[in-house]
Parts: sequence; structure tokens; C-alpha cells
Amino acid sequence: MTIIVTGGAGFIGSNFIFYMLEKHPDYRIVCLDKLTYAGNLTTLASVMDHPQFRFVKADICDRAAVQQLFEEEHPDMVVNFAAESHVDRSIEDPEVFLRTNIMGTATLMDACRTYGIQRYHQVSTDEVYGDLPLDRPDLFFTEETPIHTSSPYSASKASADLLVLAYHRTYGLPVTISRCSNNYGPYHFPEKLIPLMIANALHDKPLPVYGEGKNVRDWLYVEDHCKAIDLILHHGRAGEVYNVGGHNEKQNIEIVRLICKELGKPENLITYVGDRKGHDMRYAIDPTKIHEELGWLPETKFEDGIKKTIRWYLDHQEWWETIISGEYHNYYEKMYGNR
Ligand code: NAD
Ligand code: DAU
Repeated sequence: MTIIVTGGAGFIGSNFIFYMLEKHPDYRIVCLDKLTYAGNLTTLASVMDHPQFRFVKADICDRAAVQQLFEEEHPDMVVNFAAESHVDRSIEDPEVFLRTNIMGTATLMDACRTYGIQRYHQVSTDEVYGDLPLDRPDLFFTEETPIHTSSPYSASKASADLLVLAYHRTYGLPVTISRCSNNYGPYHFPEKLIPLMIANALHDKPLPVYGEGKNVRDWLYVEDHCKAIDLILHHGRAGEVYNVGGHNEKQNIEIVRLICKELGKPENLITYVGDRKGHDMRYAIDPTKIHEELGWLPETKFEDGIKKTIRWYLDHQEWWETIISGEYHNYYEKMYGNR
């Protein structure tokens, strides 16, 4: 079994690669990643020499490069993590989100049509459903919830989802889609809420909370997401969407206070700043379908996962300090300039 994992030098993709190499030692895993600002080769350093692993630097929008890789590897499956993933960046500059998230998805699926594939899996997000009101805790996103996006990021992900389902209906491509809630864990890029707050707190810098900090996110430990995708790949039904989330809703301010407490930092570091434009209020996944069909349940409790995550950032300070200082581009040149 050969699986192309796109975006594997990013947060969730790298965790997925580690998980798959361990869980399926006979599988060949080929990572295709452009190494944008969010992709980091140091993250993959521990598997770079693994006999079942190959890294290829390429853009998922580059048809020639994608086709060449398919010709070389004859993949059985493709799992597409590659995306521009940060909502705030999409608000500043939407264009690259449309290119990578929509055109990149089409380019990968066209290669799958040309060369044949057992499964194309699209890693999507609960943000395609828009948001839920804070005063209706009885409401959850199901797979039937209408698409209703708020940001250029979520609109681009929803467009990709529609394209994936269209390729299934029109061309019979064997696709699946997972729509997951907010992940946290090791290798999370420090622009996102949890790692940003940990890094700032460790530097005794202000902790910038948008608006009143009352927005709710449904947090899932990244390994539980990887397990869900593995199950969908092997046992999910083609043409289906699976929501992934663990009923673990927290207000942003709760998370930031918890990080202060765990790190022994004063709460007066918390600084309320201007709100995100179009800021979604609440995300909450109903995971009944993946539980009943595939037996998936989250295994890591938030109280344990957040402690493990904070410990990881304390133990891997160099990883995120290097990113923050922009040094990781130099790392790539040093590693591959003469190869
Ligand atoms: P990330 O930003 O950490 O990583 C994205 C990776 O994609 C990087 O390695 C980057 O170099 C690569 N990439 C970007 N553009 C590319 C291109 N044109 N060609 C090839 N590679 C490219 O993202 P993440 O948080 O790991 O998210 C991965 C996927 O999961 C995304 O599709 C995202 O929408 C989805 N998702 C994320 C979350 C979350 O909480 N982080 C939750 C649900 C779904
Ligand atoms: O729900 C899944 C989505 O989760 C994924 O599709 C996205 O790729 C991923 O980035 C994440 O999106 P969010 O916008 O929810 O994550 P972010 O970490 O950017 O923000 C989480 C919440 O924290 C959100 O309500 C905004 C708030 N926030 C964020 C930052 C970076 C702050 O209050 N201050 C901050 O500095």
C-alpha cells in the first residue's frame, strides 16, 4: 500500500505520518509538501531516513509535478492535508487560499482520475458549517447541517468539499471527506491559539484574546483525528462525509487561563484585543455517524491532552523558537541545497 500524504510537513499531516508509519509498518508513505511558511522539514527529521518514507517538495497546484509523482509511485490512496489553514491570514489575503485549497484539490483529484486510485481522502473542517449561537447548547453540526461559511478560509474549504463530492458523482472517484473540529497537540504552528498562548506566556508577552474571549471551540487531540482518518480510509464508505469531534467545548478565555495556570504565569498577561472580522461564535460537532459506523471515539481527555501539549512545547522550545525567528527556511537550504 502506497499513500501520498500532502501537507505532511504541517501540524496534522506530520502527526498523521508518524501515526501511519507506526501503525502500518508495511505501508509506503510519500509526503508531498510545498514547504510554505507553515511547513517545516525539522518536524519530519525523525522519519526522513525511514525506509518506508519519502519526502517530495512540490506544490499541489503544479499539475506536472503531481503527475510525475503519480507515475513514479502509483499510489493506492491520497490523503490531502495540504492547505492554507489560518483564518486570520485568509482575512488579510484570500487569494492563495482559493488557489491552494480549491485548485490544488482539483489538481490532485485529476491525477487520481488519470492514474486510478483506491481512495482519495479530503481533510476538511467543521468551519464549513459556519457557527452556532452561544445560547443554544443543544445544537450540534451533523453531516446534514447546511454549508454556511464565514471566512475566505472556510469558503475555500467548503468549495473544495463540493468539488470532491462532484468528482465522486460525475467521475465515480472513490472519495471520502472528514470534517474535524479544532485540533491541538505537538507541532502545532505557533500562529494558532494554543501554541501562540504557550509561546507568549513563556516569553512573558501579552496574551492577545480576541473580543471578549467567549467564542467556543470543540478541541480534539491531534492523534485522535489521525486515528479517525485511518479508520475512514480503510472502512469508510466512498462518497461519504464523516464529522470528527469529541464533545469538548471550551471558551477561548478558559483555554488561555488554563495555560497561565499550568505554566505558573499571571493572568494579567491576558490582553483583550480587537475581534476577528466575521468571528464564528461556536463550533460543536456531533460525531454520532463515525462512532456508529466505524466505532471511533476520542481517546485523549482534554485535561491530559493539554498537559501533554504544554510539556511538549516546553521540551521542544528550539522547534518553535526557530520558527518564530524565521530560521526554518535556512534549515531547508542547509539540508537540501547540495543534495
Ligand atoms: P498547517 O498550516 O499546519 O499545514 C499545512 C501544510 O500544507 C504545510 O506543511 C504547508 O507547507 C503545506 N502546503 C500549503 N500549501 C501547499 C501547496 N500549495 N502545496 C503543497 N503543500 C502545501 O495545517 P494543519 O493545521 O495541519 O491543517 C491540515 C489540514 O487539516 C488542512 O486542510 C486544514 O484545513 C484541516 N483542518 C485543520 C484543523 C486544525 O485544527 N488545525 C481542523 C480541521 C481541519
Ligand atoms: O475548527 C477547525 C479549524 O480550527 C481549522 O479548520 C483551522 O485550520 C484552524 O486554524 C482552526 O481555526 P480557528 O480559527 O478556530 O483557530 P485559531 O487557533 O486561529 O483560533 C481559535 C480561537 O481563538 C478563535 O475563536 C480565535 C481565537 N484567537 C486566536 C488567536 C490566534 C484569539 O483569541 N487570539 C489569538 O491570538
